[in-house]
Formats: sequence, C-alpha cells, structure tokens
Amino acid sequence: MTTGLDRRGLVLGGLGLGVALGAARGARAQEVPTASQIEGPFYPYDLPQEHDADLVRVGSDDAPAMGQVTHVFGTVWTTGATPLGGALVEIWQCDANGRYRHPDDLETSRTPDLRFQGYGRTLAGRDGSFRFRTIRPVSYAVSGTDIVRAPHIHVAVSTRGVRRLTSQLYIAGEALNDRDVALASVTNPAQRSGLIRPYQDGGVFEAGAQMVRYDLMVVI
Ligand SMILES: [Fe+2]
Repeated sequence: MTTGLDRRGLVLGGLGLGVALGAARGARAQEVPTASQIEGPFYPYDLPQEHDADLVRVGSDDAPAMGQVTHVFGTVWTTGATPLGGALVEIWQCDANGRYRHPDDLETSRTPDLRFQGYGRTLAGRDGSFRFRTIRPVSYAVSGTDIVRAPHIHVAVSTRGVRRLTSQLYIAGEALNDRDVALASVTNPAQRSGLIRPYQDGGVFEAGAQMVRYDLMVVI
C-alpha cells in the first residue's frame, strides 16, 4: 500500500486498512469494466498546489473541511483479474456546500468551503489498492438548469500518462440516483452496481468516519 495520506501523521497500512482491504483481496476481482461517465466541467486545468490523497485538510490549517469524513478505497483491476499496480487514481468532487474548487464553478448562492481540497490523486499500490480521505459527497443543483445531481465523486484512472477511465461514483440508497442525468447512461446492472456502493461505518480507519469500497476495472 503506497497511498500517501500520511502528511498529517495519519497512519496507513495499519490494522484498519488491513481489515478493510482484506475483504477486497478476498473478493473476486471486478468482472466487468467500470462504466465510463462524463468528465464534467470541473476537472482541474492545472494540478493544484495541494493534491494529496487527504482532501479533508488543506495547507497548515488544522481545522478539517466541513462534511462527513469518508475513506474511499478499493482496487484497480485490469482484464484477467490482474491488479493494476502503480495506476494513477484521481478524484474530485464538490464540498459540503455543493461547490467545486474550480474557477469555472461560478455558483454564488453557495459558499465555498476553503478547507476542502476538492481534488486529490494517489498511486495504487503494487496490489492495485488505493485510498482517499475525503468527505461524503452531497447533491447539488447544476447552475442555470433545473438539474439536481445525485451525490457523486468523480474518478479517473491513468497508466503511463494515458487516461484509461473517467467515471463517477455514487452512494447506494440515495433517492436521486434513479433520476440522475449522468448515471442514467449506465444501464448494465453489473456496471451500475459497480458505481453505486454502500457507505458504511468507517471506524476501522477513523472514529466517526464512514468508508466505501469501489473496485475499478479498466481495459488497457
Ligand atoms: Fe460533479
């Protein structure tokens, strides 16, 4: 496990991680390619100065971002049930107020949470595993439309500098899932279930946190 969440001394590779990821290793590999989803308008133009895998803390500010801390983890697979070690995994999402940390998010009715990093990246370990510390995403209205998005986390996977997957990750049980404009494009049941995962108690990682596992399969 090589994800670098340890900037603030958060210990990775410890008991909690082993417990959580043990289930991933014991599980069968993701059997269908992860469904693609639109990138959306808020992928960073330039790599932000801070872009580590802990999106809850920014800079020297000890106060965390608003929102429900959530540990997002999983394994990147490729065909043949092969873990894709070393893959670059990126996530980006809105903050607890529904704002993206992006110059094109001009929605003034919602106050940005400057303590939320908004974007992070990490390299999958040799076993394909990855983990982020972020917040549970919230729904938001798309500016200038009557569209309300289901809570989601944007994700991208790249190898050797080539983008292999662009998708979005959802929360099981959210009522908005059934009428989300992006998720509607995924009709294959196995692919839908790969994108819509249950959030669970994440106490093995951190008191009061939630956790969710998304296994990703990319075709190279
Ligand atoms: Fe989005």
